[in-house]
Amino acid sequence: MNKKYYITTPIYYPSANPHIGHTYCTVNTDALARFKRMTGHDVFFLTGTDEHGQKIEGYAAKAGCTPQEYADRITSGFKKLWELMDISNDGFIRTTDKHHMECVQKIFKKLYDQGDIYRSEYEGHYCTQCEAFWTETQLKEAGGVCPDCGRKTELAKEEAYFLRVSKYAPRLIEHIRENPDFIQPVSRANEMLNNFLLPGCEDLCVTRSTFKWGVPVPFDDRHVIYVWVDALVNYLSAIGYLTDNDELYRRYWPADVHIVGKEIIRFHTIIWPIMLMALDIPLPKKIYGHGWLLFDGDKMSKSKGNVVDPFVLVERYGVDAIRYFLLSEFPFGNDGNFDNATLITRINSDLANDLGNLLSRTVAMVGKYFEGVLPEPNVPVPEEDEPVISCAASLWERMEKAMDEIHPHIALQEIWKLIGLCNKYIDVTAPWVLAKDEAKRGRLGTVLYNLAEALRMIAIAIGPFMPNTSPRMFAQLGVEEGELRGYDSMKTFGGIKPGTVLTKGEAIFPRIDAKAEMEFLDNMIEEQRKKAAAMKAAEEGASEPKPEEPEEEKAEGKPLITSDDFAKLDLRVAKVIDCVEVKKSKHLYNITLELGEEKRTVLSGIKDWVSPTDIIGKNVVVVYNLAPRKMCGIESQGMILAASTPGDADVVPLTTLKDIPSGSLIR
Ligand code: MSP
Repeated sequence: MNKKYYITTPIYYPSANPHIGHTYCTVNTDALARFKRMTGHDVFFLTGTDEHGQKIEGYAAKAGCTPQEYADRITSGFKKLWELMDISNDGFIRTTDKHHMECVQKIFKKLYDQGDIYRSEYEGHYCTQCEAFWTETQLKEAGGVCPDCGRKTELAKEEAYFLRVSKYAPRLIEHIRENPDFIQPVSRANEMLNNFLLPGCEDLCVTRSTFKWGVPVPFDDRHVIYVWVDALVNYLSAIGYLTDNDELYRRYWPADVHIVGKEIIRFHTIIWPIMLMALDIPLPKKIYGHGWLLFDGDKMSKSKGNVVDPFVLVERYGVDAIRYFLLSEFPFGNDGNFDNATLITRINSDLANDLGNLLSRTVAMVGKYFEGVLPEPNVPVPEEDEPVISCAASLWERMEKAMDEIHPHIALQEIWKLIGLCNKYIDVTAPWVLAKDEAKRGRLGTVLYNLAEALRMIAIAIGPFMPNTSPRMFAQLGVEEGELRGYDSMKTFGGIKPGTVLTKGEAIFPRIDAKAEMEFLDNMIEEQRKKAAAMKAAEEGASEPKPEEPEEEKAEGKPLITSDDFAKLDLRVAKVIDCVEVKKSKHLYNITLELGEEKRTVLSGIKDWVSPTDIIGKNVVVVYNLAPRKMCGIESQGMILAASTPGDADVVPLTTLKDIPSGSLIR
């Protein structure tokens, strides 16, 4: 019996079309699922969409359609994208599926009947964007805004049902401590323990009554079930939990790993396990929180116009090139920066040069020197051959380790190490020199055999990452479907048969014109930015006052000043406790600063470069004795200092090397 492996992505909000960030998560999860399948596991890979909640209701109203119509349209875009990206999911769950909604209701009722959900009243700070209630402490730490997205929260009060989080929290703390693999990367486990669980958890409000677009509470239809409770249940409803047909549930639960973005790890490592404890069923084995994909250092957002469209990239560069880039360039647990130049470089250097040329040179040499028929490897030179052979024969072990640790980028690095060794092997053995000497024909044949065999193993190894490239490589290498395309054949070097006919084919990754492509991609983003800015301006109205720009300053050419001149400046350390957009301005933030006992409001034109979450809680340097000045009807009481690159390509506020009380003088 094969070992089972149940792996999931988050279910995505169908609020706007999918972008490269969603693709990043799904492609990585797909590579993990494919790898497990390749290594003989019985895999169930689930993805889907999370369609309820106030946010979707709002978007639909804006678009002039029903929430269901809205969700249908965007969900079909997600499905198309996953098809395009060759995502091998076994299930696709929508939270508007009837069987899912029934499952949510059954679970809710069960927990209510057993007393783990109870009715009471809720008053708290609610973030509509994240569909999350926040406690006073959490808000205070985040400077009065939503700790996840940095937006302002609203006070909300309602009769509601609550989940007894407090009852299960001690058990959960113990579970996290006893199972270091449960939350990965491990830094995220510490964050959950220290920031949420150990300070004490309040019971969670699990219903809403201020809007309708959700799963109704089965015995009280004035309330809908909190969208996160609804959403988390997808991992069970998709496999038939609490239905007559629960074969999949019995076969696959508990999940082996939930892959989620770092911003939703809290829901998956606190609420979800507590719901499962209350249901008295096993917890998932692992929750892996991956980092975000940023664009040029900034979070992607439609309103900034910096969203990278995967459809365009795939159409231009092919699915496997984009999959490779997403899988190899960004260490999965960390944030990564998507930039066009790196994309182009990686396609040309790693795919066209390293892999593509290795294949085409090998096949061409077998064609040229042996009429396309693979020779016998009977003249070994161990000191030359060994590095390639031993690296190839042990590749599977290193890949398994990397994939078990949810590090697809490391597995790819291992494959590329072998590719690098093969290219070096060609340089060292110089087959074209061997070919000139008839006495060295045996050695020439051995070198080409070793290269073809290593390439066969590479073709198997890249399968989970680039599923379209493997068969194209096998075709050129003359490796037919069957055992020699299988994972087990990676464990012994020497599988490919002498006598195999190699056939030259098209370049698997043709080189692309870096300059032209950079222009294309940069223009595309520029156009998007312009469109987004125009839309924003239209929304804000034409009457926007011209933003106050920081004065142009030149690095050189300023007159010398004396220390007396400098002493006129009163510079102080301030802590940012709040940062919100100035409604009437495109560029300004309204920033609340704490300077010791004192609070000040400062307007700062850094909106294009810094998000509120980047700056809230940080120390900044402020010109304390700058004459107050009114902008957009608000008085700014000082100026925050920032460093800028030429043309203001980047603007970065100054901060202190280590924490120091706010109000400290700067001299
Ligand atoms: N619907 C919830 C999840 C419920 S799971 C029971 C949700 N949806 S989401 O659409 O906002 O985002 C889901 C996930 O998409 C993130 O957790 C992350 O995995 C992925 N990403 C969205 N934007 C991303 C980036 N810019 N970069 C990397 N991943 C991104 O939260």
